[in-house]
Amino acid sequence: MCRNQTPTRADESSFAEGDFGISWFSDGMLNVSANCVDRHLETRGDQAAIIWEPDDPEEPARRFTYRQLHEEVCRFAHVLKGAGVGRGDRVTLYLPMIPEAAFAMLACARIGAIHSVVFGGFSPEALAGRISDCDSRIVITADEGRRGGRIVPLKRNVDAAAALAPGLERVIVVRATGGDVAMDPARDAYYDELAAEVSADCPAEAMAAEDPLFLLYTSGSTGKPKGVLHSTGGYLLWAAMTFDLAFDHRPGEVFWSSADVGWVTGHSYIVYGPLANGGTTLMFEGVPNWPTPSRIWEVVDRHRVTTLYTAPTALRSLMKEGDEHVTRTSRASLRLMGTVGEPINPEAWRWYHEVVGEGRCPIVDTWWQTETGGHMITPLPGATDLKPGAATKPFFGVEPLLVDGNGVAVEGEGEGNLCIARSWPGQARTVWGDHERFFQTYFTTYPGLYFTGDGCRRDADGDYWITGRVDDVINVSGHRMGTAEVESALVLHEAVAEAAVVGFPHDIKGQGIYAYVTLNSGEEATDELRQALVKWVRSEIGPIATPDVIQFAPGLPKTRSGKIMRRILRKIAEGEVSPQALGDISTLAEPAIVEELIRNRAR
Ligand code: WT7
Repeated sequence: MCRNQTPTRADESSFAEGDFGISWFSDGMLNVSANCVDRHLETRGDQAAIIWEPDDPEEPARRFTYRQLHEEVCRFAHVLKGAGVGRGDRVTLYLPMIPEAAFAMLACARIGAIHSVVFGGFSPEALAGRISDCDSRIVITADEGRRGGRIVPLKRNVDAAAALAPGLERVIVVRATGGDVAMDPARDAYYDELAAEVSADCPAEAMAAEDPLFLLYTSGSTGKPKGVLHSTGGYLLWAAMTFDLAFDHRPGEVFWSSADVGWVTGHSYIVYGPLANGGTTLMFEGVPNWPTPSRIWEVVDRHRVTTLYTAPTALRSLMKEGDEHVTRTSRASLRLMGTVGEPINPEAWRWYHEVVGEGRCPIVDTWWQTETGGHMITPLPGATDLKPGAATKPFFGVEPLLVDGNGVAVEGEGEGNLCIARSWPGQARTVWGDHERFFQTYFTTYPGLYFTGDGCRRDADGDYWITGRVDDVINVSGHRMGTAEVESALVLHEAVAEAAVVGFPHDIKGQGIYAYVTLNSGEEATDELRQALVKWVRSEIGPIATPDVIQFAPGLPKTRSGKIMRRILRKIAEGEVSPQALGDISTLAEPAIVEELIRNRAR
């Protein structure tokens, strides 16, 4: 087995221009797969590493001990090698929530390949963009996925993506449903057929701490999604340590993060954090409210889940179904509960605490981002006083800083843009293929600081309350969506001349997507066209980008230099009906447009 080699160096990072770079433990050596799997074989080889709960509750769950996980990961690693994958190669995973997703991630880590997991809800177009951006020659997918009783045609989507991504050479297909799918013998192969031919033992490559582990695409305020790159040593340390401390992990517990492995939460707290700690992680193929609104609590009971980690949006939607769906289940195994992804409203927090946890379970409201690798501001259960709606205190080594509108640090109680003043091990290292964009995006708004894109308030006790994004990113059901991405999708439609997208408060999703659309001359603003545009965006990006509201607008409010004034569009989308309340509109080229937009509000 590949042994860890202790580094003599720790933080060698700098946020300063000229000297910019992030590096931790640079002379350390390790393999993430060995740390998450092999290291546990002697002490807990027969303990469950992964419990898998299928979409359909009538079907049996599956369990994989650490010993079985080791075999599965080794086989997958050999299959990847057989397909020509080596150190540093990018492997795209486009999979449902099946154990093979974890096997494939760990197999990449084992041989030093860089995985790029693309959420199975993304469209072929979005998938193709992510395959091409990182020059990935290989995609691991499944015949089909299942979610809430519905089939997701993953292999068919890969076929469509392949037509748009000419560099794609190999597709390995996990048989998940056994559904009939088209196979191109020159390019495609079934995983089980390849796996039957290989050994169940595969040595782990010795990797340097700063070698890349994975990249994960995430939306920003401008342009296409960025491939955020994470390291081997620093990332694993951060995922492992935050998992251990924020979830107060204890041997024998069953941890369940209801996220999808396609998001960073799935990386850090379904796979790497729990397994690095020798824990038992539950992977759930389905959705919290299918076939009934009790499903999530039934899964808790069935597998005696001790720690549940979910998103406020899920809690709000379950809350409105009524308490009886919760109270008819036991939930006696629960000891601790967490939330992530968006600010939690105190009402949902209290419901989680009182109804779900029966007042017994502390709640950790964990603030972090794809770019941070793991928790940054979070209570430590038992040690931190909890407040409904507050992420509370920074994790060890994290130095938050609030900066006001003039770029000045706010001391004590106050509100501002949330920055982090120095590096932490789990920090993203770069944006794939564009280090300059990484620097520009995060380190130039406030020179010398990492800017998170979030607004935040610090109260008199020094507790932090995240107030939400302050940039052009919308947080829809805990998922990040760039307004620019939705706009680009809309203007690709032949009827659309121009589009501006903003967020607005949404009872369940946190924020909804509000699109102002100017049509080409001669196009008619009909309901059919509105529906066609919604469908269009779904097929260009995926269902998570579905606009909630489309307002046809004869023109958009712009400054004389042609810049769209989103501040005004945001206010109107939020329901502001008085032009006076919109603030200064004197810089607008055509102020009359504002009244027209208010008159024709679509909500
Ligand atoms: C954005 C990051 C972190 C994993 C899931 C999302 C928002 C995240 C919280 C929280 C308030 C939160 C922020 C952040 N966010 N956690 N506990 N309270 N807001 O990762 O897709 O990278 O999104 O999610 O706005 O910037 P992501």
